[in-house]
Amino acid sequence: MQIQKVFSAYKKDLQEVERNLNKHITSDVKLIPDVSRHLIDSGGKRFRPLLLLICGALCGYKGKNRFPMATVMEFIHTATLLHDDVVDQAVMRRGKISANNIWGNAASVLVGDFLYSKSFTLMTEIGNLAIMKMMSDVTNIMSEGEVFQLMKCGDVNLTEEEYLTIIHKKTAVLISAACASGAILAGASEDKVTTLAHFGHNLGMAFQMTDDTLDYMAKEKDFGKAIGKDLEEGKMTLPLIYALRKAKPAERKIIKEKVARRKLSQKSLKEILIFIQKHGGIDYAMQCAGKYISDAKLMLSVFPESIQKNQLFAVADYIIYRQT
Ligand code: IPE
Ligand code: IPE
Ligand code: MG
Ligand code: MG
Repeated sequence: MQIQKVFSAYKKDLQEVERNLNKHITSDVKLIPDVSRHLIDSGGKRFRPLLLLICGALCGYKGKNRFPMATVMEFIHTATLLHDDVVDQAVMRRGKISANNIWGNAASVLVGDFLYSKSFTLMTEIGNLAIMKMMSDVTNIMSEGEVFQLMKCGDVNLTEEEYLTIIHKKTAVLISAACASGAILAGASEDKVTTLAHFGHNLGMAFQMTDDTLDYMAKEKDFGKAIGKDLEEGKMTLPLIYALRKAKPAERKIIKEKVARRKLSQKSLKEILIFIQKHGGIDYAMQCAGKYISDAKLMLSVFPESIQKNQLFAVADYIIYRQT
């Protein structure tokens, strides 16, 4: 099944999610809808809402709370993007000028905070304690992930283990929660909730590994973000971590010095990319992502065959083939 087919199957639901997104960014303080709308209207895959809707449907959920809950997922994601672009000094997001570049850092941080707190307001209205508990843990872990990443910024000795911790915290926990909350809303058994949480975790790990590979390899036009940005920020990701591990000490030393210098010229950037490819860094990162995806699919074997299960397979496969 193609990913477009999955999105089409949830078209009506996703339209309702869009209505909810628009409804809940209103505020008398005009800057809030201005900044939020800039980002929300510039697209975004709505990947987390989609997962929530499918996992809910897989567990038989048809209730209305899926819409505000999917909104929460996208709001928290949007908040992290606003904050992330400040930290990363990004200039482009979703193919447009980033919010921090238009309204400045303070506005981006504060509107991000608004979206976070709004999410908790929405959750109190949904009134599911298990979801609220999960999401308060999730947001704590995500903040920890961002701070840990900040601490490790520019550290050319970052290990693969540390990298995995960072991406688990900053990305995978939210995608995991998107899957789990669909099941929780459905009143599914603890086993099912846990399985879908693990499934989402694996998807999230693969999702960030793909993002980190695309940061080196994508076309800017497709990706909607600047290419080579991670290196410029001093962000060590899996392709480079692996290549450094494989290289001989002398070469490793030269590359580490280059990376540590930041402000890389186009020429150095190219050299580093060639170095990564020579040592199989891109292939390794994509193989790791592939392993997370195949494990994720295996986890679903506890669910009987269904349309929704096939849709989850399609979403899982899409993660490693995506270009956007
Ligand atoms: C970007 O997430 C941030 C990462 C976790 C890599 P997405 O790739 O889901 O961003 P949008 O919402 O589609 O723009
Ligand atoms: C994703 O990390 C962090 C978030 C969870 C927002 P990145 O810094 O790689 O995300 P992009 O590439 O800017 O979207
Ligand atoms: Mg970033
Ligand atoms: Mg990235």
